[in-house]
Amino acid sequence: MKSHSLYLLLSAAILFNACAQSPQTQSNSPQTTDSLYTFGNPTSADGTGKFYLGRDIAQVMGHLGAGWLERSEREEEERTDLLIEALELESDDVVADIGAGSGYFTFRMSSLVPQGKVLAVDIQPEMLRMIEEKEQKQQVQNIETILSTVENPMLPKDSVDWVLLVDAYHEFSHPYEMMSQVAKSLSPTGKVALVEYREEDPSVPIKPRHKMTEAQAVKEMEAVGLELVENKKVLPQQHLIIFQKK
Ligand SMILES: C[S@@+](CC[C@H](N)C(=O)[O-])C[C@H]1O[C@@H](n2cnc3c(N)ncnc32)[C@H](O)[C@@H]1O
Repeated sequence: MKSHSLYLLLSAAILFNACAQSPQTQSNSPQTTDSLYTFGNPTSADGTGKFYLGRDIAQVMGHLGAGWLERSEREEEERTDLLIEALELESDDVVADIGAGSGYFTFRMSSLVPQGKVLAVDIQPEMLRMIEEKEQKQQVQNIETILSTVENPMLPKDSVDWVLLVDAYHEFSHPYEMMSQVAKSLSPTGKVALVEYREEDPSVPIKPRHKMTEAQAVKEMEAVGLELVENKKVLPQQHLIIFQKK
């Protein structure tokens, strides 16, 4: 089977899992900012019908899709090595991997920050358990798992050097609330690396709501006071867009 067909098949399987395993995405917070969002019919099968700044928020990928995140062809398909290299991590950096999933990036970054740490954040306890088991097996000392809410990644204030969001932001059911908290967590020189499949490129074989344009990403980050630093054009399928506080 050709690699693209396999990719599409896996995407479909993951979305099936997402529907079956989707965690709670409603908030009970009294500070809810629901006026930011509008509701309508989903624009495709992977949408939720909850819209933020014109974008139909995607369904959450369930933990049963973890195998796809860890697939052996991933490095070659997505050049995840180039992604990590582009961050130019320093050995004492504190990095937050938000929407860490099974920890694909968490573990690859932890060895690059031996005097720092990686905070692996996710809303699915099953994902965090996979990270914790691997952490124990590999005796990694500098990873902390954080079970977040859909509105708050529960990060320490003013102290995170890098926030990495790979293929996760488009699933946030409360993107405004989440990213407002992310902005508060950044150190004075802290940066956000947003990695999303390129919606501008129809040849990228990913479901439509799991892709994003650069223009949409910039609009959404500006809404929480984050400005564009650079869109690093180093990845074959994804944007790697860097933001910092204004
Ligand atoms: C497609 S997976 C990507 C995982 C990982 N970043 C990777 O590339 O291997 C998206 C992850 O984002 C998580 N997620 C969705 N909404 C979230 C939120 N509001 N806060 C934290 N994690 C969230 C999901 O539970 C899922 O594990």
